Amino acid sequence: MKPAEFNEIIRSRQSIFPKDYTGEKVDDAIVRQMLENATWAPSHKLTEPWRFIVFSGEGLKTLADFQSECYKRATLASGNFDEKKYEGLKTKPLESSHIIAVGMKRDAKKGLPEWEELGAVFCAIENIYLTATAYGVGCYLSTGGIVPFKEAKVFFDLGEEDQLLGFIHVGVPKKNLHHNRKRKPVEEKMIWIS
Ligand SMILES: Cc1cc2nc3c(=O)[nH]c(=O)nc-3n(C[C@H](O)[C@H](O)[C@H](O)COP(=O)(O)O)c2cc1C
Repeated sequence: MKPAEFNEIIRSRQSIFPKDYTGEKVDDAIVRQMLENATWAPSHKLTEPWRFIVFSGEGLKTLADFQSECYKRATLASGNFDEKKYEGLKTKPLESSHIIAVGMKRDAKKGLPEWEELGAVFCAIENIYLTATAYGVGCYLSTGGIVPFKEAKVFFDLGEEDQLLGFIHVGVPKKNLHHNRKRKPVEEKMIWIS
């Protein structure tokens, strides 16, 4: 691959949301490749702290039922229950072909600060995004919903010290999506000391 082609993949990566999915199923083999590429992300001391649980088909309903009931239980207890949010958590997962729950599993020896483990998982997430771009698949990372709920961790095979970080929604994108993506000039964000 020429550097210009690589630059083009980076530049054309975009978050594609379920409203822009056709409803068709993405090939499981592509999703598997997205996760295989995720594992080639860097991690300090090679702790490989990323964990993935893939929901598809009836599994999406399992996720929808779990997350809506988890939300309900936790928010009824705290007095923050919102019926609209509950309905969204129960129905929205069904709009994607696959949803990948992403977690960070803390190294047992805790030899690294937590921020390094978190950083490694987000590197892995970028690999997932880029692989989706290369295969013409749509995806986006959501960090909303039940992500911060500690009650949710066990369902995703995560312990006390681990963290649920987000849900990557995956789908076949509609044709001719024109998102107006912009970035500030890198000159505003870099300093060179030569
Ligand atoms: C750490 C992180 C968390 C995100 N959380 C959400 C989210 O909860 N909901 C959402 O709609 N998009 C979320 N996104 C996607 C961003 O909205 C999206 O990346 C941003 O708008 C830039 O668009 P682009 O990905 O097309 O360049 C998240 C992205 C990142 C990197």
